[in-house]
Amino acid sequence: MSQQAHPHEAAEPETPHLEQNPDGTLDPNLDFAGTTPYEDYVRADVLTHLQHTLSDDPGEMVFLVTTQVMELWFTVIVHEWETAANALRSDDVPTAIAALKRSVRELEALNASWKPLGQLTPAQFNSYRSALGEGSGFQSAMYRRMEFLLGEKSASMLVPHRGAPRVHAELEKALHEPSLYDEVVRLLARRGHPIPASVLRRDVSLRYEPADAVEAAWTAVYAGDESDELARLGEALTDVGELIWRWRNDHLVATRRAMGAKSGTGGSAGVAWLEKRARKNVFPELWTARSHV
Ligand code: HEM
Repeated sequence: MSQQAHPHEAAEPETPHLEQNPDGTLDPNLDFAGTTPYEDYVRADVLTHLQHTLSDDPGEMVFLVTTQVMELWFTVIVHEWETAANALRSDDVPTAIAALKRSVRELEALNASWKPLGQLTPAQFNSYRSALGEGSGFQSAMYRRMEFLLGEKSASMLVPHRGAPRVHAELEKALHEPSLYDEVVRLLARRGHPIPASVLRRDVSLRYEPADAVEAAWTAVYAGDESDELARLGEALTDVGELIWRWRNDHLVATRRAMGAKSGTGGSAGVAWLEKRARKNVFPELWTARSHV
């Protein structure tokens, strides 16, 4: 058959959405005046043209895309935790728990995305590592927003972003806002747990430091009814804390496999530096209180 369109087709474009199949079902619409509504919503054309690899190595593509996928998950998780923090501020615990539970599933999906990079050998990583220059995940602003929401504040983490006004402004705002955990601790106080003013009115731009009174509050919550709202909030936060710990450890092991004890592209001691970071537990009193229940 000729490659040319049938004269009838050329004159009258098909409108398949109006035609029924013999079984009575409709096929999807093919006919749009401009870009598709899917494209207008998802921006897939933008998203799938952001993969500018820096080397000729075929293995670099999955390294870049995995990093981009993780950035997207960081963005969703920040959104969930901000939703949770805002809900707690207005004493809406069910909305906060729902957002935290969504974030738990999202953290599981985030952590599953280590799969393609988990077994990189040093030779495979070396094939494109030098092309990364000084680029490092350490410079991820969205990861820093996650850490800030967890209470791991640090003004020095803004320094790398001085040259990017929007990113810097967003991080600076996040630095000075109460973290998700600050909102949790304030809720504990409003629910009658004795939390000192030094904790409630702490400088929220500094790293959250564990407090005995908060540990005592969680001990009381966990000793009580497990179906209580605060107990369920505590467990949702514990799930989050555990999955963050898992992300850090999966990252650590992937790094150890890919580069041993070499220093990082971001200038740190590499694995030794990551080991220190992975040792920390977020929401500290939620872990220590368990020894007293
Ligand atoms: C197997 C590949 C990877 C290796 C070998 C690796 C290596 C490293 C190293 C050595 C550091 C310490 C800072 C430095 O000196 O660069 C670091 C930090 C970091 N990396 Fe990776 N990385 C890998 C994949 C990823 C991916 C896919 C992400 C996703 C965004 C990521 C996110 C981060 C983050 C957020 C930090 C900062 C951690 C913190 O501040 O505690 N890394 N990485």
